[in-house]
Amino acid sequence: GYIVYMLRLITHIKCLVGTRNTSTVLRGAALRELPCVEDAFLLLDDERIAAYGLMKDIDKQELSNPTVIDARGAFVLPAWCDSHTHLVFAASREEEFVDKIRGMSYEAIAAKGGGILNSARKLQEMPEEQLFEQSLQRLYELIRLGTGAIEIKSGYGLSVQGELKMLRVIKKLKAVSPIPIKATFLGAHTYPLVYRNDHQGYIDLMIHDMLPEIAKERLADYIDVFCEEGFFSPAETITICKAGMMAGLKPKIHANQLHLSGGVQVGVQLGALSVDHLETMDADAIKALAASNTIGTLLPTAAFFLRMPFQPARQLIDAGCAIALASDYNPGSSPSGNMNLVVSMSCIQMKLSPEEAINAATMNGAYAMELGDRLGSITVGKKANLIFTKPIPSLAYLPYAFGSNLVDRVMINGEWIEK
Ligand code: NIG
Ligand code: FE
Repeated sequence: GYIVYMLRLITHIKCLVGTRNTSTVLRGAALRELPCVEDAFLLLDDERIAAYGLMKDIDKQELSNPTVIDARGAFVLPAWCDSHTHLVFAASREEEFVDKIRGMSYEAIAAKGGGILNSARKLQEMPEEQLFEQSLQRLYELIRLGTGAIEIKSGYGLSVQGELKMLRVIKKLKAVSPIPIKATFLGAHTYPLVYRNDHQGYIDLMIHDMLPEIAKERLADYIDVFCEEGFFSPAETITICKAGMMAGLKPKIHANQLHLSGGVQVGVQLGALSVDHLETMDADAIKALAASNTIGTLLPTAAFFLRMPFQPARQLIDAGCAIALASDYNPGSSPSGNMNLVVSMSCIQMKLSPEEAINAATMNGAYAMELGDRLGSITVGKKANLIFTKPIPSLAYLPYAFGSNLVDRVMINGEWIEK
């Protein structure tokens, strides 16, 4: 047999963004720097980046008849790496949104069956096929907005059948998705009503009935726990994560969202891949995170939607923490998976520089999904998952013009995604 090489030469790129070859997560000075090549070309070999450089240095003679794509002066960026979402859910919750506008408290909403339990009830009723179809539509909406890798959690099942149904849907999404997907088991999202006064009973159910089946069917890559007052305590979080680790799942923890939950320290102690949210931080939690290899994943659209103070991003960065940005896409606290908005909001409200925000939403997001060697930057050998912008005057214009969709075209594995 013979191999047909599919070479594509992308010409007239105004600015090729994120050209780097690092093998570690970015923090400090490295996080501030976003290497770029102006007036660039990019050469793709099948689905991978083969070369890049200055337009004036293209030597077409050396290339065997590449297909030429004119980028028409676009900025070209690595696609977003969204390392924290709850994209699989049965129904939106805009009634609760309106209740909150009218002044109803989170507790009152929960008392009338709202919140995570509301989502769990609706998920219970929905057939797996329908859940898959609507999740696939959401996934494609995000790909068209520039997302090129994504993590998706369970956690709206809260029963053996419900959690397995969610994870099987995520597994089916993995099989058909053009972008990489990582699956996270979040059985410990909240205590289901029947176990409200029997925490050990639910923990036993997760450990003895859910995790073995998850391991057997290879349904998850990671384990997550909502470590929060009124949800799972630090001790419960440790027990559940350790059981997950025994089943081969690395922890990624919901930590310090509403209170100083201790979740950050627990995550660091367990060697978690990431601790996520971090709206509520103190000096101890920041110090523990900075001294660790655990990534701090900031979810600014969740803080925005819940009218919480934003994450103390500057303090975290200045202390030396490795931070990533993610959407937290879910029906209760972030009904948007638009990473362009996440990047804007972190510049506007948390004072990240555009360069820091783009690094955190690409390279560090990739590391928070263990995809740093394959995605997150313009590097020879990495996958061609790319955003082509509309005409923009500068890179800072991207987060600045927060209400415009500046993504013109998206390329995944070297192929255009239909608009
Ligand atoms: O990440 N904090 C916990 N879980 C979600 C919200 C869940 C929901 O309200 O449905 C979050 O914000
Ligand atoms: Fe979340």
